[in-house]
Amino acid sequence: MLEKLAEIEQVGLATLAEIADEAALNQWKVTHLGRSSAIMDLFKNMGEVSKEERGAVGREANQVKQALEAALTQKMAALREVALRRSLSQERLDVTLPGRAIPRGRLHPVTQTLREIYRVFADMGFQVYRSREVETDEFNFQLLNFPPHHPAREMQDSFYIQSQEERGDNPILLRTHTSPGQIRAMREYSAENPENPPPVRIILPGMCYRYEQVSARYESQFTQVEGLAVGRNITFSNLKGTLSDFARRMFGQNVRARFRASHFPFTEPSAEMDIECFLCGGEGCAVCKSTGWLEILGCGMVHPTVLKNGGYDPERYTGFAFGMGPERITMLRRKIEDIRYFWANDLRFLEQF
Ligand code: PHE
Repeated sequence: MLEKLAEIEQVGLATLAEIADEAALNQWKVTHLGRSSAIMDLFKNMGEVSKEERGAVGREANQVKQALEAALTQKMAALREVALRRSLSQERLDVTLPGRAIPRGRLHPVTQTLREIYRVFADMGFQVYRSREVETDEFNFQLLNFPPHHPAREMQDSFYIQSQEERGDNPILLRTHTSPGQIRAMREYSAENPENPPPVRIILPGMCYRYEQVSARYESQFTQVEGLAVGRNITFSNLKGTLSDFARRMFGQNVRARFRASHFPFTEPSAEMDIECFLCGGEGCAVCKSTGWLEILGCGMVHPTVLKNGGYDPERYTGFAFGMGPERITMLRRKIEDIRYFWANDLRFLEQF
């Protein structure tokens, strides 16, 4: 009997060792540990074993059964391990393969220019002040000292948002420049501290609208960045110094600037600033039309009437203001020949920046 048990164990373990897949393993389990397996038969027929031998045979039979079961568990684990290794090696990720390129978004070229302008003026202590795009005639023109029949008020230049009958004497319109923000900012700052208003140092960026004949040079919608400094003893040389410094920080340390006399109703005196053409270095080229200079912005000392309208006593306070067109600056720097590209939303254009 004991010999037979030894044989059962040996055959069982030997056949198990040959097995290489899960189906064969299940079959093996039925054959060697199932209800009609040799070892189970032996348990069933224990009654036939003599009394003397029964204890030893039973113990041995149990051991054989346990040995077969343990071997089965081990084999099962081994097969799983092999399967896992195979799937790991076959389905392996090659991390050195090039990835799929995800197209990168970018900022609109005018936004890029705007952010550069913000950075330069922030370094000089100017804060960004946001003002409304829908304005009244009063803020857009009257408080800025536009004479009653100034051509800029004409229908050809402004987008009014009311019908002709509704308009009255203070019509609502889309701002034609960022200058009405000057009045709003001055009133806000002086209202905060009527006795001793803090010095105003702001830039006002934003969208402006004009009823233009759209062409390569004129759009009906464009951005401006206005600047305003109001305080005690602010002079024209502060204006020149600030704007010359801006030009150097924006266009290069060696760029020269020049100021030409000009006219705006809300500044006195008024000027326009040119910078030396950064494309030809002043030699003369197509962009500067052989003059060597590029017109960059309008500026001037805040008109006493405008100071008064903003809540400041012109006897005690002075200030300077300026306004520039980021589209124009972007066009000059990037050699873009048509302002209409900025709103055309053509990816072939936008992807270049
Ligand atoms: N608002 C003027 C324009 O639109 C620009 C400007 C602003 C000029 C501030 C002087 C001072 O042309």
